[in-house]
Amino acid sequence: MFNFKHEWIETNIGLLLVLTMLAISIGGLVEIAPLFFIKDTVEKVAGVRPYTPLELRGRDIYQREGCYLCHSQMIRPFRDEALRYGHYSLAAESQYDHPFQWGSKRTGPDLARVGKKYSNEWHVAHLISPRSMVPESVMPNFPWLERNELNISDISERMEALRKVGVPYSLTKSEYQANVKQFGAATAEMLSIPDARKNLIAQAESGNYDGDRSKITEMDALVAYLQVLGTMVDFSKYDDDAFVKYR
Ligand code: HEC
Repeated sequence: MFNFKHEWIETNIGLLLVLTMLAISIGGLVEIAPLFFIKDTVEKVAGVRPYTPLELRGRDIYQREGCYLCHSQMIRPFRDEALRYGHYSLAAESQYDHPFQWGSKRTGPDLARVGKKYSNEWHVAHLISPRSMVPESVMPNFPWLERNELNISDISERMEALRKVGVPYSLTKSEYQANVKQFGAATAEMLSIPDARKNLIAQAESGNYDGDRSKITEMDALVAYLQVLGTMVDFSKYDDDAFVKYR
């Protein structure tokens, strides 16, 4: 009986088409429907904020140089990972990352919590020549980062593009005020698109990440980015969490 029906469907092109599309759309729904509830799945966590303009340019350089090919940014909730890297990554910590940098390969260590682990000087020396700091390293040299002046001409456009996909960089006064409410005045100021260039220059000059005040380089931006990774959430506030004890 069943065989008969199967043959009937397969020899009836119109019916086969309709049933095929039905099967595909069920598969599609199962994949797509959860995305409508993504806002409820990602819990808000205090401290998480979008990147400042300088950090954002650093992130662009991180992607341009392909750092993600060797480094993940996702600490999994296993004891060995927590012992090595710190608290496991939270969904909220990559909520403003487009695209996220979780990565899929660890030729080098995970970088999700590398912020404040080393000094700026260490990062600069390590990026110019990794083997000067870690003799057995297989990481490539990136000496041009220190030489290349940072292109900041399109920083507003870059922030506007991210704003379009939901990152709360502010263009209007009301968006700015919403940011003051959510992130506090100092952070809201950093997220303002009209002030982006001014803020970028101010952060690079006061932070002096590459140790050379004469110009703003790609190294300034990349080190500013590395130093903020994993530092936004204050995990010492959640000391009842078993994983924190091992940090
Ligand atoms: C070919 C693979 C490879 C690439 C590409 C690569 N790295 Fe690495 N990285 C490593 C390895 C291996 C180590 C561990 C040895 C060391 O510290 O140099 C490492 C270590 C590091 C560390 C120290 C981490 C820690 O916790 O000790 C940082 C920071 C880092 N890399 C940043 C970067 C950045 C930024 C880029 C892109 C500009 C990059 N890496 C590109 C392989 C790579």
